[in-house]
Amino acid sequence: MSTHEIIAIDGPAASGKSTVGRLLAKELDYRFLDTGAMYRALTVACMRDGIDWADSGAVIACCRAAKITLVPGPQADRVLLDGEDVTHRVREPEVTARIHRLADQAAVRQLMVVKQREVAHAAPTVAVGRDMGTIVFQDARFKFYLDASEEVRATRRRAELEAAGESVDRQAMIEAIRRRDMQDMGRAIAPLKVADNAEVVDTSQLTIPQVVALLAEKIRGTID
Ligand code: C5P
Repeated sequence: MSTHEIIAIDGPAASGKSTVGRLLAKELDYRFLDTGAMYRALTVACMRDGIDWADSGAVIACCRAAKITLVPGPQADRVLLDGEDVTHRVREPEVTARIHRLADQAAVRQLMVVKQREVAHAAPTVAVGRDMGTIVFQDARFKFYLDASEEVRATRRRAELEAAGESVDRQAMIEAIRRRDMQDMGRAIAPLKVADNAEVVDTSQLTIPQVVALLAEKIRGTID
């Protein structure tokens, strides 16, 4: 399987990349790989096992032992950790707030990169995350960086949460997004940035279906 059949999508928190990536994969009949879900599941594993975040040896041992399975579903993937369904757990704010404790560690990222490449090299894949175009799939033929203003991203994320019956203060949401972007862009290893040859798509004024159509058009236009 050549890296030509990998579409790498990166972008900041709540930029819509998972929703877009999933729909794009469906449209192209590609596999969808949500690498954020993998980092989230590892974080749940470390929290479950009461790992001391300062003990990097224990963190990596826990990550090595954790068996993560992403089960494709029509709306969202189910996330299994050692066979246990943690689909909802991985999205909880206390989990989100701790991901950087392991996502900043080179050994953990190395482990994830190997797994992500295994998945994507087995079948044509749309892979979304923070380092898809810069590190994991540097040779991907198509690289996109989805962006949107902080306000738009906060509004979208709030709407998602409200649809799920949760309410979140708008200002608190903006601050949480800003903090996460700073952590993801500021880390020493695999920071979030626009990859070489990536096309930046500002989705602030676009609906999700419009973004999917735009990316599909760019991909098909290049292939045809
Ligand atoms: O995409 P999502 O918001 O689910 O990602 C959660 C967190 O996982 C990100 O904020 C980032 O810290 C980490 N992550 C990462 N590398 C990826 C995907 C996610 O470091 N490829």
